Amino acid sequence: MPPHLPLRDPAFVQNPYPTLERLREETPMFHDAALNKTVVLRYDDISGMLRDKRFGRTLTHLYSRDELGWPPPDPAQAQFDAFNGNHMLDSEGEKHTRLRSLVGKAFTPRRVETLQPRIEAMLEGRLHALGHRFDLVADYAEPLPVTVIAELLGVPEAERANLRPWSAAIVKLYEPNYTAAQQAEAERAVQDFSALIRRLADERRAVPRDDLITALVQVEEAGERLSLSELTDTCILLLNAGHEASVNGLSAGVLALLRQPEHWEALVQAAQQDDSLNIFRTAIEELLRYDTPLPMFERYALEDLDWKGVPLKVGDKVALLYASGNRDSRRFDTPDTLRLARDPNPHLTFGLGRHYCIGAPLARLELALSLRALVRHVPGLRLAEPDALPEYEGGFVIRGLKRLKVRV
Ligand code: HEM
Repeated sequence: MPPHLPLRDPAFVQNPYPTLERLREETPMFHDAALNKTVVLRYDDISGMLRDKRFGRTLTHLYSRDELGWPPPDPAQAQFDAFNGNHMLDSEGEKHTRLRSLVGKAFTPRRVETLQPRIEAMLEGRLHALGHRFDLVADYAEPLPVTVIAELLGVPEAERANLRPWSAAIVKLYEPNYTAAQQAEAERAVQDFSALIRRLADERRAVPRDDLITALVQVEEAGERLSLSELTDTCILLLNAGHEASVNGLSAGVLALLRQPEHWEALVQAAQQDDSLNIFRTAIEELLRYDTPLPMFERYALEDLDWKGVPLKVGDKVALLYASGNRDSRRFDTPDTLRLARDPNPHLTFGLGRHYCIGAPLARLELALSLRALVRHVPGLRLAEPDALPEYEGGFVIRGLKRLKVRV
């Protein structure tokens, strides 16, 4: 049987690493006929392509759909396509640079660091509300990133309940083979999400505040640099990207630690001896490498090219398995071993090149603070059902635990 990536196989979603290792060693770059993509598994190839200008996240800045021979857009997902065509993650060239530099001003490492006391206060409140048994995903990992990104943008508390369900509906369409019902739900979510942001933008125009929506409204009002739809879609992107992977990354990290309790115990000991955040910052890097919350991203070949003997034509898609690169023994010593002090740790979890995660400093801070607070507050944390297989949401592109039952 020709090699393929079993993206919809629940056993693969549970634990993709053995399959990724076999593919990485036997067929490091292969064409998956079902996906119609070239799958790329080795670190050097993935990082090389991410840095190479001949690959991009979109093609429509260079060619029309007719030139590409693409079918007309699907009217059933017009809102979703318009949203995706308009934010930085799916833009290239001048538009990407412009949108990224506007948002980049709000995400300076200095601005992010000022959030530490506020994040610590939120974590404190959350920890005191936990019982002896709880769901680490819903009760601990989820609330913080959603609240932080909502506060940064300036989404009032009363409007936040929908952010997570809307985001969950939208990201379903990033998985292959979604259903018509999922498509309809994502359309509705983009529509409702946009209506909220437009309303908030109007409010900020009337009464400015110290938040990102106000900052973007002021850019939009100042001239041509940001259209209203770009503003709306940028905010939706930030609200989605600003929590999905952080929730999944923390949950997966804690699962890895509780499955190998000697590592959890080592952090408990270290936290007693050393007050600094650094050991947790380093541990988070390793946890994000070891189990990668966003395991796969794609690029188009922007021109006909040859990659180490593999011909790619303009419009061909490559599926870059960041989760596989992160376990490549050509780049990492003992890649299947969790080594919390691993340094340097040049993992691919935040990407590389011009789309490198703009929220990485925020994610790193949130995750390190969350892990330190958990270790300090509940040093005796255990899996409540150590023999049960963890339950995943089902997607691979955005791979996350559905729940993680723990006890103190
Ligand atoms: C553990 C948490 C996170 C992970 C693993 C993660 C991962 C990534 C990755 C891999 C990319 C690049 C995608 C590609 O290569 O095609 C990316 C881009 C991006 N991320 Fe994150 N991210 C995280 C948290 C955040 C947060 C907290 C924010 C909120 C500010 C954010 C906002 C973005 C944005 C806006 C982009 C697009 C950048 C661009 O296209 O230039 N991410 N992220």
